[in-house]
Amino acid sequence: MPVRPTCGVQRADWIRGHVADLFSSYVAAAALSAFYELGLMQRIATEGEIRLGQAGNGGQEIDSGVLHAICNTLSWAEVVEVSECQIVTRGPRFDDAFAARGYFYWLVQGCGGLVSEAGHIARVCNRTGNFYRRDMGAVAIGSRLIGDTEVEPLFDEILSRLRVEKLVDLGCGSGQRVIRIASQSQARQCLGIDISEEAVRLATAAVENLELTDRVSIIHADARNLEYDPVISDANVITCIFMGHDFWPYDQCVRTLRQLRCAFPMADRLLMCDVVRTTSPADADTAIFTLGFELVHALMGVYLPTLEEWGRAFADGGWTCMNIYELKAPSNGFLFELALAT
Ligand SMILES: C[S@@+](CC[C@H](N)C(=O)[O-])C[C@H]1O[C@@H](n2cnc3c(N)ncnc32)[C@H](O)[C@@H]1O
Repeated sequence: MPVRPTCGVQRADWIRGHVADLFSSYVAAAALSAFYELGLMQRIATEGEIRLGQAGNGGQEIDSGVLHAICNTLSWAEVVEVSECQIVTRGPRFDDAFAARGYFYWLVQGCGGLVSEAGHIARVCNRTGNFYRRDMGAVAIGSRLIGDTEVEPLFDEILSRLRVEKLVDLGCGSGQRVIRIASQSQARQCLGIDISEEAVRLATAAVENLELTDRVSIIHADARNLEYDPVISDANVITCIFMGHDFWPYDQCVRTLRQLRCAFPMADRLLMCDVVRTTSPADADTAIFTLGFELVHALMGVYLPTLEEWGRAFADGGWTCMNIYELKAPSNGFLFELALAT
């Protein structure tokens, strides 16, 4: 059938270009998260290619229409290339996207439900009770991947200078840190604490799979209410990664920091790592994560402290900051090396 050009109708120039790319980027972020979750990103990273017709994952068939659409979207984003014979290989942006996969999984799978309801949640009348939902298993996995780039190597470097006998990880998420640290030496006892049942399930399963139950325990508890307890209080290293902001607002954070002093009187170090709130408006230099991290926490009503506010809380909470390390990934991330103030 002949297709007629429209005449006399004003052309919509914005259907391509910057604003159109914002729309497609949202779709690409979802596609990237799914590609990671389906194990296909890892397969391309290790095997170099996947064939669209045979892209099952762990024996589970993937719908071919969905897979084609995901790969087409990722091809638009230059993450993959799809050949005429339906072979999917690395695109020019694959390595960067692979390095950033945790950020996408955190945002899309972990916080997607929350972000998609932003308009509803923004109304004050809708912000009571359990007014939002997140997939905490995905948040834990995304956080682990986010930490792999710089946080974990920095931790290993700091821990190599300390005598780690018993380590407690507050907000342990997937449990990867306690597992890794316990695996490095048989003499180490490690304990992970998390408030989320999903995270505790995930971490406990990982510990059992690796047969580390003699050295690693996972406990379901609120790190803000820990008291002296012989099971945990002989720990000499305490870690707390990407959850310190859950201690805030200020007075509650100071109270928690003081309570941690009582719960862990033998602590040589409290190693706390978190992303701080930015203090200048977003611009062309804004890095990955910043906008997502700040919007997600604003939606949840969780206060994000600045670097300066953390400094005051440590002093008032009875901890001396021995060193501060600035991270590049995640940006605005800092690792605070704290000791009990005397
Ligand atoms: C962003 S995740 C970080 C997970 C892990 N620390 C990591 O580095 O991958 C934050 C974790 O802290 C947990 N969490 C939040 N508030 C908590 C609290 N008050 N007590 C214990 N865990 C808490 C959450 O359930 C979640 O698993």
